[in-house]
Amino acid sequence: MTTPPPECPAHSSGGAAPGGLTRLYGPEVDADPEGLYEKLRAEYGPVAPVLLLGEQPAWLVVGHNENLEVLRNPSRFSRDSRIWNQLKDGKVPMDWPLLPVVAWQPVCVFADGVEHDRLRGAVTNSLGRLNRRGIRQYITRFANQLVDEICQSGRADLVSQFAEQLPMLVMTQLLGMPEEEGPRLVKALRDMLMGTETAIASNEYVMRLCTQLAVRKRADPGGDLASLLGRDDAGLTDEEIAEHLRLVLVAANETTVNLIASGLKMVLTDPRFRAHLNGGQMTLPDALEQVLWDEPPMAAVLGRWATGDTVLAGQQIKAGDMLMLGLAAGNVDPRVRPDLNASLYGNRSHLAFSSGPHECPGQDIGRAIADTGIDTLLMRLPDLHLAVEEGELRSRAAFLSRHMVDLPVKFSPRKPMGEQLPTPRTPQAQPPAAEMPPAQPEPIAAAAPVGAPVPRQRRSRWSALTSWFRGR
Ligand code: HEM
Repeated sequence: MTTPPPECPAHSSGGAAPGGLTRLYGPEVDADPEGLYEKLRAEYGPVAPVLLLGEQPAWLVVGHNENLEVLRNPSRFSRDSRIWNQLKDGKVPMDWPLLPVVAWQPVCVFADGVEHDRLRGAVTNSLGRLNRRGIRQYITRFANQLVDEICQSGRADLVSQFAEQLPMLVMTQLLGMPEEEGPRLVKALRDMLMGTETAIASNEYVMRLCTQLAVRKRADPGGDLASLLGRDDAGLTDEEIAEHLRLVLVAANETTVNLIASGLKMVLTDPRFRAHLNGGQMTLPDALEQVLWDEPPMAAVLGRWATGDTVLAGQQIKAGDMLMLGLAAGNVDPRVRPDLNASLYGNRSHLAFSSGPHECPGQDIGRAIADTGIDTLLMRLPDLHLAVEEGELRSRAAFLSRHMVDLPVKFSPRKPMGEQLPTPRTPQAQPPAAEMPPAQPEPIAAAAPVGAPVPRQRRSRWSALTSWFRGR
């Protein structure tokens, strides 16, 4: 099969995209990304030439094996976006909407080889030193607190009132951030990722907060991620710590929000899970694994860049070409899943957490937040059910991730647990030699507001949480 190179102007055709290539954006793609994978797979095989926003060319990898081939061969497919040929040729405008995702930054995501080992090693070591039992306690307690806020009304939107809140409540604790910053942080992170007019200001706010935290914890360490990064043998500078704190926040938030929302949708709608409650087969971890196969929270990763001319699944990839890893597309590759309805019990070979040297180092924490969070919710509200027809549930699909718009539910009103909630007994994090004191929440100088002011109601809810958390 011969395919025109993505940038070939000779293949421009009428109303079609330049080169007759498929545009990976627009309402049709958003409405049915899965349909597009199959169209591309049928037309080009496991690797398809596509056009991203602004008609930027890329190769979309839709094959499962080919995704693994790219991810596991960093010497052929680098993470360093500075080698992108379009960028070197000056063909990427500064206001290209995907530039924030692709532009090189001094973090492990954009590094290869020895430098990646150094930066990533610090992140994995530090995440590994966080106290697992302590993390689960935090998740349970914050999930209970969120349930307390909705349980008396008998109805709720589980996307905005649960899934979008829980990961950041937990992550701010793990990082060592003051709880008071949580609501603005959630808002700022969403703002950044949605590329709104205030995205740059939001990014600056998040970065300022992470820098303040890195400096403060260097001087007065605790058992949190910021302190552990500062103490790691990799010898990270304050700037590197701040950059990686920001990275962890960004990497953990949207992905875990999506896993919780899709997981909740599944347990509320899939008869196999409902049957489990009556002695059937599908447990909550099984349901989450099924979601990681069918609706991976990060549908695609942008990207990798070819270090030299190479051939991938018969396609001639030029040095500096950009590749986009189609994780969702690879997960439904008919060569690994000939029957999409067949049981996947115990099979974790999906691409949801990527693979190779950049494979997600926070997957256990992401899984724990979703699993423990949903479990707590179901324990508290066992008769939870959808308030709308399943067909009415809406997702804001984008090629990089799919985000549920809302998940309206009903349940029997109940009293909040409030004071009955036990106070925390273990510190959130512990270094290996237990030589560090437990992390203490500390105030950080108030940062500039992001976008609109935080609504009074959310601020007071957060204060209540903080007081509760501190046992006051
Ligand atoms: C269910 C939730 C999550 C999913 C589906 C997910 C998925 C991913 C994926 C697909 C990548 C890209 C790897 C690549 O470029 O090949 C990634 C990277 C990363 N994730 Fe996660 N993630 C999740 C949760 C988390 C959490 C909770 C944390 C932190 C506690 C985290 C930290 C990171 C970091 C630091 C990277 C960059 C690693 C590197 O480039 O070496 N993730 N994740």
